[in-house]
Amino acid sequence: MTKINPSEDKTNHLPYLKYEENLLHINNRSILNIIKEVPTPFFIFLPKRFEHNYNHLKSAFDKYIPSTRIAYAIKANYLGRILQHANGLEMTTEAMSLFELLLAERAGFSFDRVIFNGPAKTQKELEFSMDKGIQYLNIESMNELRDIENIAEKKGIVQDITIRIHPRLSEETEKKLLIKKNSKLGIDYDRAMKLYKYAKNSSNLKPKGVHVHVGTNIVSHDFYDELLEFLNDYIKDLSKKHEIEIEQLNLGGGMASKSKLDENGFNLERYAEQISVGIDNIENITVLLEPGRYLIEDSFIAVAKVLRTKSSWGRKWAFTDIGANTLIPMRYSNYEAIPLEYKGEGPYCRIGGPLCLPVDVISNESVSYNIEEEDRLAILNCGAYTLSMSEQFGYPRPAVYELKNENELRMIKDADNIQDMVEEAFNFKTESLL
Ligand SMILES: Cc1ncc(COP(=O)(O)O)c(C=O)c1O
Repeated sequence: MTKINPSEDKTNHLPYLKYEENLLHINNRSILNIIKEVPTPFFIFLPKRFEHNYNHLKSAFDKYIPSTRIAYAIKANYLGRILQHANGLEMTTEAMSLFELLLAERAGFSFDRVIFNGPAKTQKELEFSMDKGIQYLNIESMNELRDIENIAEKKGIVQDITIRIHPRLSEETEKKLLIKKNSKLGIDYDRAMKLYKYAKNSSNLKPKGVHVHVGTNIVSHDFYDELLEFLNDYIKDLSKKHEIEIEQLNLGGGMASKSKLDENGFNLERYAEQISVGIDNIENITVLLEPGRYLIEDSFIAVAKVLRTKSSWGRKWAFTDIGANTLIPMRYSNYEAIPLEYKGEGPYCRIGGPLCLPVDVISNESVSYNIEEEDRLAILNCGAYTLSMSEQFGYPRPAVYELKNENELRMIKDADNIQDMVEEAFNFKTESLL
């Protein structure tokens, strides 16, 4: 149940939000006042929160492993403006396709600050990234390794590579992972040894690192203890069996949003310390992190209008104009809807979107505040895996605005246009069908 009571503020895990005189304020300005008559639904990107999340992570790692590279995972939210902010903060970035490599390039990332992941990279993608001098190339199969070797041979270079492995973890931990050992991602650690050996014996490959990424929304220090113990042994094995001295350790993404970590008492300094203690000779190793959700999830708010309310089977429903085609209903979503104007307590109410689809509900909890048609709601924690996974499912995708100077909105992505959507559906040549 999301209980909103302005006198007992429930937004304390997002310190930039506060109710004052029943109006939701961001950075001390009423949101209703900032958004004025901007047509709903739309997203607001909060660059200050994005920067705050980054700085918090960076300062935690500066204390224990200052050479750590923080790579924003483009797949979490690909918008150019976010990438420009990430580049401005001198982050590294993580891409999984040619599209994302091109976005990284366009945002100004040089390819010594780009990580390229993916289980099925094409020849074209490999050649493109290697032409640009990709620094961090994470591979998942022997054939991919051979293709990289051939390209490197033709170019007369030695290409650094990292292998994405699936770690050995206790059965109990393994069960909780999003990406399990028999999933399509990563490669089992025994098989990976063979790839390392192959790369070690090649004159055009240099095995530099180990990469793991096994989940999202992680809030557990115990999980990292277990993972780090395995990785430390694995790195020692690589040295003992194949004389490979690992120089890069990529721990992937997977951290929950900053606000969720705070709620669960997960401490980023402790995480950095765990790595510095858990991995031998950490001073000779570059640590890489690939956070997506952590950086962007709580740096976005959606603003939606309640279109209809109804009561059925003893339950009240409110339907907003933003739906599951953009607020993707994933197991790990943390959406939370709160009113821009609090009008007191009302009957418990579930909030859904406008789609004719049963999964189109904004959060699984009922809210206890009074909610009426035409009310506007803020939907929190909606920056990660929403726009980047959005689909055209009967509705246009919303516009995105950036909050500038605390109180000005500037459009950074236009909404889909319904007439264009109709044109696109009829974009074929009638003659060719006859
Ligand atoms: C290889 C890799 N790194 C990083 C990420 C980002 O994960 P998260 O948003 O949970 O931090 C993903 C997400 O799927 C991924 O596949």
